[in-house]
Amino acid sequence: MTTGRRYFLYVFGGVLFLVCLFLTVHYGRETFYLEGQINNKKDYDYHFVLITEEVGNDYWRLVENGAREQAAANNVYLEYIGPEQADLTENLNTFERMIAAKVDGIFIQGLPDKRFNHLVNKAKDHNIPVATIDADTPDSNRDFYVGTNNYQAGQLAGETLIKNTSGTINVGIVVGSKESINQQLRLQGLKDAITSVERINLVSIDESAISEIGAAQATYALLKNNPEINALFGLSALDGIGIVQGVEEMNPNKYPLIIAFDTLPETISLIEKEKIFATVVQYPNQMGQQAVELMLDLKKQQTIDELNFTDTGVLLKNDIKDGESLLIGDAN
Ligand code: BGC
Repeated sequence: MTTGRRYFLYVFGGVLFLVCLFLTVHYGRETFYLEGQINNKKDYDYHFVLITEEVGNDYWRLVENGAREQAAANNVYLEYIGPEQADLTENLNTFERMIAAKVDGIFIQGLPDKRFNHLVNKAKDHNIPVATIDADTPDSNRDFYVGTNNYQAGQLAGETLIKNTSGTINVGIVVGSKESINQQLRLQGLKDAITSVERINLVSIDESAISEIGAAQATYALLKNNPEINALFGLSALDGIGIVQGVEEMNPNKYPLIIAFDTLPETISLIEKEKIFATVVQYPNQMGQQAVELMLDLKKQQTIDELNFTDTGVLLKNDIKDGESLLIGDAN
């Protein structure tokens, strides 16, 4: 064998060894991920998991913050996981994985799928309590719900329109997702509030996939196909912001009255600029805190309520000072 060839074989062998080493370490870490999490738990009293609809979504980050505060104060290890982008199947798979990991409690948005109720039962069979958060499934065996009364929140949105307008109003609605349980309830509450008022007509509904860009596209389509629309609702946290983008793109000189959901900083700033008229306030931070608190009570065998509604309200321009909401308890 020539020296050159031998040299090549040494280098090739070395590279192959490094690649194998990398793959062993990488997949070893993936495989033992759950075990690692569980070992981590030893220093804590409990290991709770918050499964989010979308991991980077600012609204869910507020829920996470509240849960983390409460967890830190009570020696609880809190894991926060979910898909990069809303994905029902991935959420259900994560739910199943967390049951297999034998965590001590699970918080998850109530999901519109038969498999969800089945997994709640499976968790209960393993003595793992499950709380729904942000959206409820009362027909499942979940232990309790913490979050907005979504039907009432939809009604509030509708009443805000009724109170602050006169003359004919043609409504377009952007929902996060037509399947989502809280969106369906908000939509129903909103419809029920406005149908009794003759001068208000519901024209069309579109979806945003809970993203700003999705809401902008939905708005553009709504306005293009129904130029008579003069009021728009956004029923999930990023919809109001996206609706403004869609209006600006379509015709910035013809602003419909916009009613949004949630108090993300950008929404508050658009209310101050009078682009969004009002927003329905939820308290995601409070949801996270209360969820952990109640789960701990449950662990101590205390009796807790099944339905734990967090506050709601309506935020108008007058309720904002220096970019901050003045509504009580709105420190999220
Ligand atoms: C809803 C959440 C949703 C979020 C999306 C909120 O209004 O309560 O369910 O994930 O909007 O941005």
